[in-house]
Amino acid sequence: MRVLSGIQPTGRFHWGNYFGAIRQYIDLQDEAEDAFYFIANLHALTTVRDAKELWQLTIDAAIDLLALGLDPDRATLFIQSDVPEVSELCWLLMTGAPMGLLERCHAYKDKKARGLSADTGLFAYPVLQAADILAYDSDTVPVGEDQVQHIEVTRDLAASFNHQFGETFVLPKAKVLETSARVPGTDGEKMSKSYGNTLEVFEDPKHLRKQIMRIVTDSRPMEAPKAPETDHLFQLYCLFADDAQRGQMADTYRRGGFGYGEVKKALSELATDYFVEARERRSQLEADPRQVREILGDGAAKARKKAADVLLRAQRACGVKP
Ligand code: ADP
Ligand code: TRP
Repeated sequence: MRVLSGIQPTGRFHWGNYFGAIRQYIDLQDEAEDAFYFIANLHALTTVRDAKELWQLTIDAAIDLLALGLDPDRATLFIQSDVPEVSELCWLLMTGAPMGLLERCHAYKDKKARGLSADTGLFAYPVLQAADILAYDSDTVPVGEDQVQHIEVTRDLAASFNHQFGETFVLPKAKVLETSARVPGTDGEKMSKSYGNTLEVFEDPKHLRKQIMRIVTDSRPMEAPKAPETDHLFQLYCLFADDAQRGQMADTYRRGGFGYGEVKKALSELATDYFVEARERRSQLEADPRQVREILGDGAAKARKKAADVLLRAQRACGVKP
């Protein structure tokens, strides 16, 4: 299994990103024969238009992933733009990408539907993503449900290139993440940067506690028994609780006679403890930017070597190289 996935540095990671994606990337590094993970800064450039902010978010994303357990000895971590071969490959794929296929892709389609003008970068976003995937002969792409369409586009583009020019690309498969069970945000809707309802992984514990205390709950009286399954506060608690704690909390809900404040306090303690080691590792990494640069440099060198082979194969196949 050759695993690859990318994550956009468009904001600091929240619990949805961690439980929905990052944790599973990290678990896969042990199973895969090869695992490539990158910070998709070229994709992020379609939305983040402030240079300082984009660079800071990119470095923060790298440090966060390392702190959360991504191990450079077992997985290759790099910044997307450090592999220019991918942008070249993107052009080769673009020449055979039907307009209609890209017009159906959701990011572009949604923007158009809202009456906003889209730029070429957003339109071609799925082609760059296809180049990301095909450049490393990856066969397995762990992603959330929302990215499945892009993997389908990748397969279409690869298959059509192979059909025209002969076997060149490996057709990848999406590995839809199991717990892509959506993590709810502080308002009960899906946790997302765009809804402003996130709880961040590396939030300062005091501030996190305040945010947790503000999680929206219903106004049922304390005595009333409540159904745990449908309660977003309970769902958040379950992300961090072990089986016994989960069972006990579910019983408390069903019995009634408790205040949501108690649940929030318990959640805040569990969540803070859960990320304690990651927070320590993060401080160490932040204090040692040279080490981070070195990891990203080594990752980019390894990624470039592979991408250069695949690019040459594609260039020869379509006749831009002898
Ligand atoms: P956001 O919605 O905050 O902009 P992204 O789209 O950048 O987040 O998310 C990156 C990945 O994190 C997604 O592909 C998805 O797999 C995962 N993810 C994001 N939010 C959630 C959530 N609330 N629940 C589960 N997974 C999520
Ligand atoms: N579009 C993906 C997202 O928003 C990020 C991404 C870019 C990606 N290139 C990729 C994911 C290649 C998987 C494979 O989450």
